[in-house]
Amino acid sequence: MAEPAIALDDVHLSLGSGAARVHILKGVSLDISAGESVGIVGPSGSGKSTLLMVLGGLERADAGSVRVAGSELTGLGEDDLARFRGRSVGIVFQAFHLIPTMTALENVAVPLELAGAPNAFDRARAELAAVGLADRTDHYPTELSGGEQQRVAIARALAPEPALLLADEPTGNLDEDTGAPIVDLMFQACAERGMTLVIVTHDPELARRCRRTVRMRAGEVVGAESAPALVEAR
Ligand SMILES: Nc1ncnc2c1ncn2[C@@H]1O[C@H](COP(=O)(O)OP(=O)(O)OP(=O)(O)O)[C@@H](O)[C@H]1O
Ligand SMILES: [Mg+2]
Repeated sequence: MAEPAIALDDVHLSLGSGAARVHILKGVSLDISAGESVGIVGPSGSGKSTLLMVLGGLERADAGSVRVAGSELTGLGEDDLARFRGRSVGIVFQAFHLIPTMTALENVAVPLELAGAPNAFDRARAELAAVGLADRTDHYPTELSGGEQQRVAIARALAPEPALLLADEPTGNLDEDTGAPIVDLMFQACAERGMTLVIVTHDPELARRCRRTVRMRAGEVVGAESAPALVEAR
């Protein structure tokens, strides 16, 4: 069998210092296949966002093994970790995180250019067209609707053609009518490009669209359901 796209083994992580130190991930083990879509669900504070940060190489596990897209992240230095992030993962956040002083085009093109990609602006234009924003490339974030801003963030995440797309409450700041096509866009892009998709969500509808749902509670994985079982359970 091919190596899983993501393999976590007994991952522990504490954050904060002194009395504020919190043991957040308490022995998380999880395998995700290449091309799979997985929804991470669970109560507020259960460690979902922290887990996503570990998968994206934005937080480093204290103990355990974190293999993502062929790299063992726990052993990487800062430079290698930055290279891993630029090459292997795209991340979409609830609050979009666009750079306010850059146009939509620059928000997508500049990170590509910094990563040394050739034709960064042409590729950025193509990615923005693919999310339906061909006529908004010169708009600044404040000149875009919330849904449009999230489309720019998705174009930016997809532009380096990463193996893995991570999304943390990607529709959390959007109403239902605006969020639904954003979700369609992410699933479609991942299917077309054979990307692995991991979505943290409170939205049961969104979780149900994933091939598998992983449930967290108090820093541990407490259950996993594949899509048919989830539907039958209702
Ligand atoms: N930098 C930090 N320092 C200390 N504690 C932290 C830090 N970041 C997160 N925590 C704590 O870790 C726990 C898990 O946080 P996390 O953001 O992963 O939860 P979550 O499951 O994503 O919750 P939500 O659904 O509300 O977004 C929380 O109790 C939070 O207060
Ligand atoms: Mg969270």
